[in-house]
Amino acid sequence: MRVLTRKDSDDVALEAAAMFVDLFARKPDCVLGLATGATPLGLYGRLIEAYGEGRLDFEGVTTFNLDEYYGLQPDDPQSYRHFMESNLFRHVNIKGERAFVPRGDISYRDVEAFCSGYEALIRGAGGIDLQLLGIGSDGHIGFNEPGSSLRSRTRLVALDPRTIKDNARFFAREEECPGLAVTMGVGTILEAAEIVLIATGSNKAEAVAEALEGPVASMIPASALQMHPKTTFILDEAAASLLKKRNLYMAAERTEGETGLKIY
Ligand code: PGA
Repeated sequence: MRVLTRKDSDDVALEAAAMFVDLFARKPDCVLGLATGATPLGLYGRLIEAYGEGRLDFEGVTTFNLDEYYGLQPDDPQSYRHFMESNLFRHVNIKGERAFVPRGDISYRDVEAFCSGYEALIRGAGGIDLQLLGIGSDGHIGFNEPGSSLRSRTRLVALDPRTIKDNARFFAREEECPGLAVTMGVGTILEAAEIVLIATGSNKAEAVAEALEGPVASMIPASALQMHPKTTFILDEAAASLLKKRNLYMAAERTEGETGLKIY
């Protein structure tokens, strides 16, 4: 895995944005996997800026979001569909019909069919070229909570109490945070051609260290990324603070600088 450590969240956003700009240049009809939460906001700001400056064109791009709260309508201000519309889609020229977010307003009876349909849509689009991830303080990716099968697919899941606590800040009261969600699985995520995980702040340091340097374990779903051939972690100094092998990552980055080769 590549591990890049940057000074702060602005520099993390810049570095991640560069990966998107590079992909758009190579493949204007690329397929992106997108994430919600506080962490990607800086990156989305950079992408909107690059679009405004004519450096990014979303005309041919398709996107698939990782997850959605179950029980919320797409136009609910707390829904991830609403988050994506407000923080990215509305500000760029992406085609509405090619910006997919799992639906949270499906009946229990129909949810399995919806989830396999979402997988089929991803496959039909040719698979994900670049998957963006955040990481939960409990080590989740998407809403794949500790204990998720490393081969899991898109499905209905129960949120870990820690995630509900972490996300309560977005709701008026903790009890308003839905307890269920629809999420792409760990197995779904691992099929992306390339993955970039961004993490900032000291509350992510433990999960980042376990994901990168601990054993691959379903109790830390992000550790499954160790099995992926092309994953980059972009961290600020606080999120990288508990890594034991920082010297190794820095040496790899230096060599990359000298050789132009990306070292995973
Ligand atoms: P955050 O969430 O960016 O709001 O910290 C990240 C995640 O849970 O994946």
